[in-house]
Amino acid sequence: MLDIKNLNVSVEDKLILKNLNLSLGKGQVHAIMGPNGSGKSTIAHTLAGKPNYDVNSGEVSFNGEDLLSKDPYERSLDGLFLAFQYPIELPGVTNASYLKQIVNAHRKSKNETPIDAGEFLKILKEKSKQLDIPMDMHSRFVNTGFSGGEKKKNEVLQMDLLDPSLIIMDETDSGLDVDALKSTAEAINKLRNSDRTFLIITHYLRLLEYIEPDFVHVFQNGSVIETGDKSLASKIDQEGYN
Ligand SMILES: Nc1ncnc2c1ncn2[C@@H]1O[C@H](COP(=O)(O)OP(=O)(O)OP(=O)(O)O)[C@@H](O)[C@H]1O
Ligand SMILES: [Mg+2]
Repeated sequence: MLDIKNLNVSVEDKLILKNLNLSLGKGQVHAIMGPNGSGKSTIAHTLAGKPNYDVNSGEVSFNGEDLLSKDPYERSLDGLFLAFQYPIELPGVTNASYLKQIVNAHRKSKNETPIDAGEFLKILKEKSKQLDIPMDMHSRFVNTGFSGGEKKKNEVLQMDLLDPSLIIMDETDSGLDVDALKSTAEAINKLRNSDRTFLIITHYLRLLEYIEPDFVHVFQNGSVIETGDKSLASKIDQEGYN
């Protein structure tokens, strides 16, 4: 589904990703672990198409198409979803209106009719309940004044509403309390299926105990230095990277 070949990426003329190679198959769950500053978020941002991430060389194909030549919104409509490490605030736009608009933008691209307000509210209630998100949060501006954990849950809600085929989660577990981690992991596990691929960036074993990865990659200094199964995550948890 996603094939990254010899990818070199710089930010502000600093080379961050160095000859990165990574292949994610359909239905697989891959975890990336690595020290702070090793370039994990840089992979996420590059795949999502964040401006100022300069691809010096290399290729990325997503479902057989060239990902890097597309705009961020096209990547989203093609099924790529990124849950941000630091979700952004959108003062002036209510969460409900934002969520409905992103859902309808995706429906429009598939030539589906827009979802009406009643139907959307029903879906929003059901999915919010599962994630323990109070409905009054949706009348507030997107992420504005949300707690750290509330922002992370709002990212998971978006991924649940958009039905993406490739989900990249950048430290979605960081900032969640123990109960929220569990309910979020359950919501994520429900999204697991044979067509959907996950790339989970995390520092902690805890999330990976709920969402069992098929592969664990250790990232250091801009590239993958080791790949293993979930036992590699336990080893890192016990022994650290050194
Ligand atoms: N605009 C920028 N200018 C200079 N350096 C940058 C810029 N953006 C990112 N970097 C550097 O790129 C490196 C990789 O950053 P990145 O955010 O990808 O790390 P990370 O592995 O996600 O770390 P963490 O675990 O702390 O989230 C860091 O050393 C960071 O300081
Ligand atoms: Mg990061």
